[in-house]
Amino acid sequence: MASVVNNTVVSSFSPLSAFPIISGGTNWSWLYTTVTIVVSLLALEQSVYRYKKRHLPGAKWTIPVIGKFADSVEPTMEKYKAQWSSGALSAVSVFNIFIVMATTNEYARKIFNSPTHAEPCLVYSAKQILLPENWVFLTGKTHVEYRKGLNSLFTRKALGMYVGIQDQITRKHFQLWLEDAKKDPRAKDIMMTARTLNMETSLRVFCGEHLPDEATQEISDRYWDITVALELVNFPLAIPGTKVYRAIQARKSAMKWLTLAAKRSKEAIAAGQEPQCMIDQWLVDLANPSYKGRTDFSDHEIAMVVFSFLFASQDAMSSGLIYGFQHLADHPDILEKIREEQERVRGGDYEKPLTMEMLEESTYLKAFVKETLRVKPPVTMVPYKTTKAFPISEDYTVPVGSMVIPSIYPSLHDPEVYPEPEKLIPERWLDPNSKANQNPRNYLVFGSGPHRCIGVEYAVMNIGLVLAHAAATMDWEHELTPESDKVQIIATIFPKDGCKLKFTPRQQRS
Ligand code: HEM
Repeated sequence: MASVVNNTVVSSFSPLSAFPIISGGTNWSWLYTTVTIVVSLLALEQSVYRYKKRHLPGAKWTIPVIGKFADSVEPTMEKYKAQWSSGALSAVSVFNIFIVMATTNEYARKIFNSPTHAEPCLVYSAKQILLPENWVFLTGKTHVEYRKGLNSLFTRKALGMYVGIQDQITRKHFQLWLEDAKKDPRAKDIMMTARTLNMETSLRVFCGEHLPDEATQEISDRYWDITVALELVNFPLAIPGTKVYRAIQARKSAMKWLTLAAKRSKEAIAAGQEPQCMIDQWLVDLANPSYKGRTDFSDHEIAMVVFSFLFASQDAMSSGLIYGFQHLADHPDILEKIREEQERVRGGDYEKPLTMEMLEESTYLKAFVKETLRVKPPVTMVPYKTTKAFPISEDYTVPVGSMVIPSIYPSLHDPEVYPEPEKLIPERWLDPNSKANQNPRNYLVFGSGPHRCIGVEYAVMNIGLVLAHAAATMDWEHELTPESDKVQIIATIFPKDGCKLKFTPRQQRS
């Protein structure tokens, strides 16, 4: 190292000597001009940041150009918690995108419910993956109108049809899990097994038998490429070898199959077949003379809607399922209560398919699902973007064009509403007078306002159904590792070790 600072070495190998203009000593003004411009731009960057930030907590100076980029590359719950605890509103900048994080329930809800000031802002790569014309990018009145037409896909009647499909796919996968465990009894992480179960369930609910088996396999195998491309900051050009490029290829493959399913569904319904999946049901609704909205959806457009559901649900549902399994393994007393309830609700006959009515009667199961999603909410925050200056509080206005992020996690861990917030206590949902039930506005697991999750009932029903079947028919042991309680953020949250479980057929008590 000494030689590096040695004057002789520096002068003979000075990098500046590589530039003839400079070493020639004739054009110093070029250097001064360049330096002046760069310094002015850097000073401007700091001034703009400080002007926008005003009195909000956050770094006094932003790291030139990249800001807090390093934190966004490898987000951790610890860093998020530090940001949340810094204030009800706090500021940060990444690549000169000015970001305001809202911690409190009041501010989070205000963002979710102010469509005239802020709209959802999916990560940059989302538009490349989902296609810019996808309905999820609509805003304002057009979004409300389009979404109204999709609500019929999640009515009680529609959910009643889906439950049969969910039951069948879940049983099939548990059978495979048990066969696999018999061959190799070691505990294995369930990241991919749970994701595959969820993907096949979604595809069969959405497309029924209009998709061949090879399609569900192909979409499922390639979907991980989409998940990993959903980083906050990504290489902007979709060239071969990049994550976004691979995600686009995965979307093309999925869209090819989903478009085929839409075409086949139209043919089946035209031939008078009873609806057997979500697309079928949608087409039947559109053909109903009392239906007032648009009816001319192309195969491509139907496929895009189905793809938007896959996109919105796959990571969040898998996260919810995996933490559900982990929580039940770590709380045998709660698992036992779910088993007792299933025994009662199903009259001890686990061969009989689960129905909506049985799930509705499973009060304790529903309380558990609500609680596991509260303790470990799959989505911890949702990025929005201000479309005009947004006076969010009495003394602060978020500038137009900023990112403004309603946080979900802090509302769900507010000790005033959820005493002992880190503790898994399903009972807090059983008492109608509990603080949890008296403060439904804190339960932001599915967002709030015009973009609130459209699949909430479907999601809760499916997580409940999978865990109810698991509780009734399998035992599972959790292999604890130093990473079991650490959180990994890959679009949504997961246990860092992927949740290592060992499954065996349930030993029924006589
Ligand atoms: C545990 C599972 C799930 C969680 C935690 C979850 C959570 C969320 C959240 C937080 C939002 C943003 C809401 C907002 O901005 O106010 C959202 C939006 C959305 N979700 Fe879910 N979701 C889940 C499952 C599903 C499923 C199963 C589907 C479809 C079948 C779905 C479809 C959507 C769609 C389409 C949107 C965008 C709605 C719009 O912009 O109008 N989600 N979800």
